[in-house]
Amino acid sequence: MDRPKVVLGVSGGIAAYKACELLRRLTESGHDVRVVPTESALRFVGAATWSALSGHPVATDVFSDVHEVPHVRIGQSADLVVVAPATADLLAKAAHGLADDLLTNTLLTARCPVVFAPAMHTEMWEHPATQQNVATLRSRGALVVEPAVGRLTGVDTGKGRFPDPVEIFDLCRRTLARGSRPADLTGRHVVVSAGGTREPLDPVRFLGNRSSGKQGYALAGTAAARGARVTLLAAHTDLPDPAGVDVVHVETAVQLREAVLKAAADADAVVMAAAVADFRPAAYATGKIKKTEGRDPEPLTLVRNPDILAELSADRPRPGQVVVGFAAETDDVLANGRAKLRRKGCDLLVVNEVGERKTFGAEENEAVVLSADGTETPVPYGPKEALADVVWDLVGNRFGALDGLG
Ligand code: CTP
Repeated sequence: MDRPKVVLGVSGGIAAYKACELLRRLTESGHDVRVVPTESALRFVGAATWSALSGHPVATDVFSDVHEVPHVRIGQSADLVVVAPATADLLAKAAHGLADDLLTNTLLTARCPVVFAPAMHTEMWEHPATQQNVATLRSRGALVVEPAVGRLTGVDTGKGRFPDPVEIFDLCRRTLARGSRPADLTGRHVVVSAGGTREPLDPVRFLGNRSSGKQGYALAGTAAARGARVTLLAAHTDLPDPAGVDVVHVETAVQLREAVLKAAADADAVVMAAAVADFRPAAYATGKIKKTEGRDPEPLTLVRNPDILAELSADRPRPGQVVVGFAAETDDVLANGRAKLRRKGCDLLVVNEVGERKTFGAEENEAVVLSADGTETPVPYGPKEALADVVWDLVGNRFGALDGLG
């Protein structure tokens, strides 16, 4: 079988060295990668490195190997083009269709999905010129990853950092898996909650749960690969931040509620995949709770946490907003799920049975998605990303129906 053909475009930023790791992951996972650096990218990482790691010759201009017409052929035959890092200059050229080197020519001839992973200083990223170029590229269906927040070159810190290459690789893998299907969530803002809340008892103890966050992270990652602007509200999980997703870390149910209501204000869809503690300790001890010899411990008094899903479903900050809940059930799965869908008032409820191989932390899941209109969509046992894609398909159908009404 032919290996998927990936073009790795590299423009001239210090993060070019991180693209070596992305290249290595792509080649090791069976992709045929052709690296197309810009002239200035070679000032950061030399052609020998790109050539050795990819197993292909490397050129920056359109006049090498002219008989092979590389300026057309490389783009035409690609299954995916990823530009990482993408500088402000490269984004501007791509947005305006300039074609003065091999990479920009490749971008004009590519008919496959294109991913840009920008990296630059915060001021350059936030400049209206760059923001307009990004909007133009997105409106044409390109995936432009939101840069990460963190340490930049020099002493600066802020938005503009190149995301973790492993996470960009994941985004590329997801995008390739979608093949020619369009980035159908482009222009949508979706909010996903994930992980398990922790309710503190004292400075060293908490009440938690066994949620791994994997399903919520899969939802966030697949939505980004489908072009959405994604806000991920992450309660406790050990997973790294996915590329191209705005991540807000929270701890408790009360903090999660605040973050959900804030992010939901301009969201087209909210998916509550987090395992939210229903109760929290009534009191928080500011000092560590000590044991006293010969005395029984004080009983733990719990109070109810707000039900975020029910509250959001009842009082949607935006008309037409699609609200999705999750339910893990052990018995009478479907009957309990149907009752929960009515009680919570959401549009879709993803019901899965917990137990045996369907345990927390697993890579795979099996579920039925119940819809408020009575339809039920079974999703066979498979990767959590596959379930995430079904959820976004159903959410997308609702957007489509609402757009039709508008
Ligand atoms: N949820 C929420 N706020 C809570 C509890 C749960 O928003 N305080 C959301 C979860 O994120 C999930 C859905 O509600 O999307 C279902 O959670 P679940 O714990 O199954 O629902 P409960 O109402 O707590 O039902 P049960 O009595 O079965 O625990």
